[in-house]
Amino acid sequence: MTQMIDKRPDPEALSRIKDILGPKGWVDDADDLAPWLVDSRGVYHGRCLGMARPGSVEEVSQVLAVAYDAGIEIVPQGGNTGRVGGATPDDTGHQLLINMGRMNKVRDIDAANYTMTVEAGCILQDIQRAAENADRLFPLSLGAEGSCQIGGNLASNAGGINVLRYGNARDLVLGLEVVLPDGRIWTGLRRLRKDNTGYDLKHLFLGSEGTLGIITAAVLKLFPLPKERAAALVALDSLDSAVTLLEKARTASADALMSFELMPGFSLDWAEKHVEGAKQPFETTYDWTVLMEIGGTKMDGSAGVALEGLLEEAFEAGQVVDAILPQSEEQRAQLWFLREAIVEAQNREGAQIKHDVAVPVSLVPDFIRQANAAAIALMPGIRPYPFGHVGDGNIHYNLSQPVDMPVETFFAEQEAIHRAVHDVALSMNGSISAEHGIGRTKRDELLRCKSDVELDTMRALKNLFDPKGLMNPGKTIPAPR
Ligand code: FAD
Ligand code: MLT
Ligand code: ZN
Repeated sequence: MTQMIDKRPDPEALSRIKDILGPKGWVDDADDLAPWLVDSRGVYHGRCLGMARPGSVEEVSQVLAVAYDAGIEIVPQGGNTGRVGGATPDDTGHQLLINMGRMNKVRDIDAANYTMTVEAGCILQDIQRAAENADRLFPLSLGAEGSCQIGGNLASNAGGINVLRYGNARDLVLGLEVVLPDGRIWTGLRRLRKDNTGYDLKHLFLGSEGTLGIITAAVLKLFPLPKERAAALVALDSLDSAVTLLEKARTASADALMSFELMPGFSLDWAEKHVEGAKQPFETTYDWTVLMEIGGTKMDGSAGVALEGLLEEAFEAGQVVDAILPQSEEQRAQLWFLREAIVEAQNREGAQIKHDVAVPVSLVPDFIRQANAAAIALMPGIRPYPFGHVGDGNIHYNLSQPVDMPVETFFAEQEAIHRAVHDVALSMNGSISAEHGIGRTKRDELLRCKSDVELDTMRALKNLFDPKGLMNPGKTIPAPR
């Protein structure tokens, strides 16, 4: 007989938590809570005891200490833009949501050392702007940057459109401040470029999706601000030319290539159809297009010259068949608007099944062809919509429902389709989550793609930091087979 564990919280502990936070730091009105209880895809809906909005690391520490003693489960939350359900509480109503939005100070910008120290609740776009005002670049950039928080970016090791040149979120961090599940504060806000003093603890929290502790602040790496950016939207003769062009562009620009994003030509039509202000910029619908951008360190047009030179070569070789080179900052911004718009366009086109795979870059064309064959074999009429960060070998291999197929029929096959697409990636030694994380959505798929040694080590680490299993339970780490 299984023993029923009563997870209802001790009312006294809850009232102590409310006292610590004060009225500014506590939300329990149903309407105010509603947007924070559903994930960004609208797949998961949860309930909670209330939402804590701590204003300082001390408050986070005190709240976690009380929760730890009382056995209250915690769900950390940033901007709630995650794609895998990691920030949504379960439906018991017994979990405490901790949203970091009030901890939004830039504590320090150190231009000389190319670092900045920020609190976890800072919106990513605000961080980019603050760096720019100091003539520096914070390169993490993604579609949700207007609302996601740096704590969420770091906890999910976000990627985005500049990984090719600057790396993932993990690569942009020098130090962290973290509150452990029992309330102890680890102050690791070092600004060092080199520090070989044993295990590098920060890397355990980066990408841990709220399962080991709460990130409250970080020291971020800054870079010289590119003085000019040269972008081009190009149409390719074939998918394989994406790989050839990428190689050429990296070499010709001496690796100043910042972004290299794949978009199927028809996604630009969908953007025009569904998203206000988006326009298919070509006169015809090509099979494959790439939006690429080179960042230049001088304001002498050399980035544009490098880009035009390599495109000329690619035209002559027949790999590029058409190109749009923006002549103003506004036109460049329009191309990036289009890249973001294709995500929303697919949402509006009907139900979708999403993937976020990585394979070695040179295998991306084969991956797409094999995944198309596998998905269409399972569901004739399904509409593959592969796009994304091809420069990193990261494809959002999304699929739209067949026209006229009922949504329930489409989703009935979701698990089989996930498995088939992931199998193609795994057969290439790829990953089932390149940048979105595991969360709730992909937790059990981990059982199929990690060895027992890897899974046991993950569980042992989780148990070491969080022996009571209170931090974001049910996310990221699958139960033993
Ligand atoms: P949330 O969604 O709130 O949380 C994400 C995870 O981190 C959860 O598990 C949560 O528990 C945990 N968490 C949050 N804050 C903390 C903290 N302070 N301490 C510990 N754990 C915490 N992602 C990409 O990688 N690349 C993209 O290009 C990209 N594009 C996107 C485009 C759109 C339109 C949208 C909606 C999302 C996109 N995403 C992308 C996904 C998402 O924006 C990122 O994963 C982002 O990093 C999540 O940040 P957040 O603050 O919203 O975190
Ligand atoms: C993107 O690259 O646009 C996003 O990661 C896609 C998404 O979040 O669905
Ligand atoms: Zn992406």
